[in-house]
Amino acid sequence: MLSEQNRYCRQLEHGFNRVFFRAMASIRFLWLLNAKTANAMKTLVRSGICACSRKRNICSSPSRLQNMSAWVIDQFGSNGVLRFTEEISLPVINVSSEVMIKVNAASLNPLDVAMRGGYGATLLNLRRDPSSVLSSSNEFPLILGRDVSGTVVDCGSGVTHFVPGDEVWAAIPPWKQGSLAEYVKLTEYEVSHKPKSLSHAEAASIPYVASTALSALVNAGGLCRESCADKRVLITGASGGVGTFSIQLLKAWGAHVTVTCSQNAEGLVRGLGADEVVDYTAEDAPQQLELMPKFDVILDNVGGDTEQWAMGLLKPWSGAKYVTLVSPLLLNTDSMGLVDGTFQAGCALHNKAFENMLSRGVFYRWAFYAPDGPALDDISTLVDGGKILPVVEAQFPFSQVPQAFQKLEHGHARGKTVVKVSEEDDSQGETVESEQGMQEKAQGS
Ligand SMILES: NC(=O)c1ccc[n+]([C@@H]2O[C@H](COP(=O)([O-])OP(=O)(O)OC[C@H]3O[C@@H](n4cnc5c(N)ncnc54)[C@H](OP(=O)(O)O)[C@@H]3O)[C@@H](O)[C@H]2O)c1
Repeated sequence: MLSEQNRYCRQLEHGFNRVFFRAMASIRFLWLLNAKTANAMKTLVRSGICACSRKRNICSSPSRLQNMSAWVIDQFGSNGVLRFTEEISLPVINVSSEVMIKVNAASLNPLDVAMRGGYGATLLNLRRDPSSVLSSSNEFPLILGRDVSGTVVDCGSGVTHFVPGDEVWAAIPPWKQGSLAEYVKLTEYEVSHKPKSLSHAEAASIPYVASTALSALVNAGGLCRESCADKRVLITGASGGVGTFSIQLLKAWGAHVTVTCSQNAEGLVRGLGADEVVDYTAEDAPQQLELMPKFDVILDNVGGDTEQWAMGLLKPWSGAKYVTLVSPLLLNTDSMGLVDGTFQAGCALHNKAFENMLSRGVFYRWAFYAPDGPALDDISTLVDGGKILPVVEAQFPFSQVPQAFQKLEHGHARGKTVVKVSEEDDSQGETVESEQGMQEKAQGS
C-alpha cells in the first residue's frame, strides 16, 4: 500500500514536471516558489526546528564531513579552466525530498563542453537563482557532468523511495551541480534504482541520453511502446550518445528504424538494431532517403540544414512529426538576453511550426532533456531484460577529466565517454555479458 502511495506520488510529481517543462510562461513563478521554499527550509534547518537535519547521516565519508573532491570551473573558457580541488563544500540536504549520492561514475555529453564555454549561462543561472535576474550572481565554482551512477548515502526526511546503500543512477539537470565530484545532491524524483546488470561505469553512460531521447520521442514525437509497431522512424546523427540509445529503445518498442551516420559507424548502429543505414557523407544520401517509404517521426540529432532536406521525408497530412534536439533557445538567450532571446526563439519555433503544418501537414517540434526518475525505472527494466546495452566508447579515471573533455571535443562520438570517479569495486550482476562481449555486440561483430 505504502509503495503504491509512493508510486502515485512520484507519478503526480512526474506529471507536474512535464507540465513544468511545457509551460514556459509559468517557469519563473515556479522558480520563485522553489527558491522561497528552499530558503524557508534553510532557515528552519539553521534554527534547528527542522527534524530532517537531525535525521541526516552521511555515512560514507566520516573523516571529511565538510569538503569533497571535484573538478570545477571558476570561469568559462576552453579546457584550461577545468580545475581539480579537494575543497568543495559537501552538498547539504536541506529539503526533505533530497537524496545525497556518492558518485561512482559519471559521463560526459556535448552539453558539458558547451557549458564549460558559457553556453546557456543566462537561462541556467536564472533557474539556479531567480534573483540573478535583478543582480548578476555568480554560478562559480561550477561542477559539470550530467550523468551519475552511485550509492545513496543520505536521504531527507520525506524520501520514501530510497534508503542509504541503494545503488542508483540519474540524469542531473544542468542547473544543478554536476557529477564530476565525490557527491551529488538530487531530489528523489530525479533518481532511479540502477540496473542490476550493469557496472556503475556502464550505467553512467545512459541516464542523460535516455531522458533526452524519451522527452524527444515520447513527449514531442508522440511515440510509446504500444504505438510503435507500425511506425517508421528516421534518426539523424545516430552514432552518438542520443542516437545509439534511441535506436535500441525504438527497436525494443517494435518500430522500423532508419538512421544516418558516417560509413565507419554502420557496424555499430546495425549491431544495435538499425534496419536501414544511410551514410550521410555519400553524395546521393538525400536521394537514397527519398526513395524509401515516408517516415512517421524524424529525430534530428544534427541540426543545421538537416530540416531543409529532411522535412519532405515525412508522411504528409497524417500527424507525422519532425523533432529536433538542436534548437537556438539557449544560444539566443545568451546573445540577446532573456526577454529578447526567448521572444526570438519563440517566434522562430512558431513560424516553422505554422509553415510546416500549413504546407505539408507535419508537426515541427523542439525537444529538450527533462529529468524523470520514474522513466529511468522503465529503462532500467529494459536494460536488465537485455533490450538496451550501454555503448561506452571511452573510459577515463577521475584524474583525467580534462582528457575526457578533449576526447569529446574531437567529435565523431560512437556512444558515450565515461569518467570513473571512484575506483571502488564496480562489480556487475550475474546475468550481464562481459564488457568486451557487449562492445562486440554493439559493434555488430
Ligand atoms: N535539447 C536538448 O536538451 C539536448 C539534449 C541532449 C543532446 N542534445 C543535442 O543533440 C545532439 C546529439 O547529442 P549526442 O549526445 O548524441 O551527441 P554526440 O554523442 O556528439 O553524437 C553526435 C553524432 O552525430 C554524428 N554526426 C555528425 N554530423 C552528422 C551528420 N551531418 N549526419 C549524421 N551524423 C552526424 C557524429 O559522428 P560523425 O561526426 O563521425 O559522423 C556523432 O556520432 C547534440 O547536438 C546535442 O547537443 C540536445
